[in-house]
Amino acid sequence: MAEILAVGEAMERALALLEGGDVVAIPTETVYGLAADATNGIGVSRIFEAKGRPRFNPLIAHVADIAMAERIAVFDPLSKRLAEAFWPGPLTLVLPQRSGNGIHPLVTAGLDTIALRMPRGFGGELIARLGRPLAAPSANSSGRISATTAEAVATDLGAKIRLVVDGGATPVGLESTIVKVEGEDLRLLRPGGVAAGDIEAVAGIKLLRGMAAGIEAPGMLASHYAPGAAVRLNAGQVAGGEALLAFGKRRAGGWQDAIALRNLSESGDLREAATNLFAHLQALDQSGATTIAVEPIPFDGLGEAINDRLFRAAAPRDKAD
Ligand code: TXA
Ligand code: MG
Repeated sequence: MAEILAVGEAMERALALLEGGDVVAIPTETVYGLAADATNGIGVSRIFEAKGRPRFNPLIAHVADIAMAERIAVFDPLSKRLAEAFWPGPLTLVLPQRSGNGIHPLVTAGLDTIALRMPRGFGGELIARLGRPLAAPSANSSGRISATTAEAVATDLGAKIRLVVDGGATPVGLESTIVKVEGEDLRLLRPGGVAAGDIEAVAGIKLLRGMAAGIEAPGMLASHYAPGAAVRLNAGQVAGGEALLAFGKRRAGGWQDAIALRNLSESGDLREAATNLFAHLQALDQSGATTIAVEPIPFDGLGEAINDRLFRAAAPRDKAD
């Protein structure tokens, strides 16, 4: 079973495991990540093993600062501006790789681009101490709900990894927003912890949505973020045997009969809702309900990313990821 150490006492142990080509679960501001040295093929392959993740789905490389990022990838002016505005923070940039950057090809699934992000807090310090980037997907079994607490990581992956660094509940609660500059355009590959409107305000252009040719972010496809129970969206009425994921003050009809109820945000605050999303889904999943009914959630601000994750949680379950 994995050892759980608080951030204040975990640094040396985490470094030793990473140096030895092992994986460590770490807190970031978005969700917990399952990290390995991005230049170490054995470490990176252990990430895929522990998660049961398909190897065609590339990982994000996490950096300590912009200088480290520029040694790995080539920045165009707009990407640079976005990095300066939002790093450290929940924004991931997809950029052309520099050749000879030392990143193991398993990280990028052989693509000539790489997804980069600079996390806040313990993760950033760990990368600076290691002196090398960390590859880290969310610390959950592939296709399941992302973990926002050390306990959730330990429950899901504890038998497969040796250390979970406990930084408490992650403040943002949703994975990073992923964008990519395409010529004059900026494409949103995954909505996430930075609202699209905030990125547009810095970029001065509208984000393009939807996939370009090919599968740009394989994790965007098929069933993902799936709890064990079925998920039913935009519920106006609760049916027998259902649990209710609520939002705001007005309740769906028949809410008194829900076998469990969690409210993402009583006051209708979408940031609070993002923070609570995965933990509430998990709690309702454990209530024994066959279906989780979800009240409508507005699409503005972080609502876009919340609706995106719920949509995927409700998608037909195939085994693509
Ligand atoms: O907040 C986050 O982003 C968390 C924390 C741990 O940093 N990480 C995370 O990683 O969500 P993961 O592996 O669950 O999601 C990464 C996404 C996947 O959908 C993957 O397909 C996409 O990034 N991705 C990675 N490299 C890419 C690339 N070169 N081009 C397009 N998409 C890429
Ligand atoms: Mg994930």
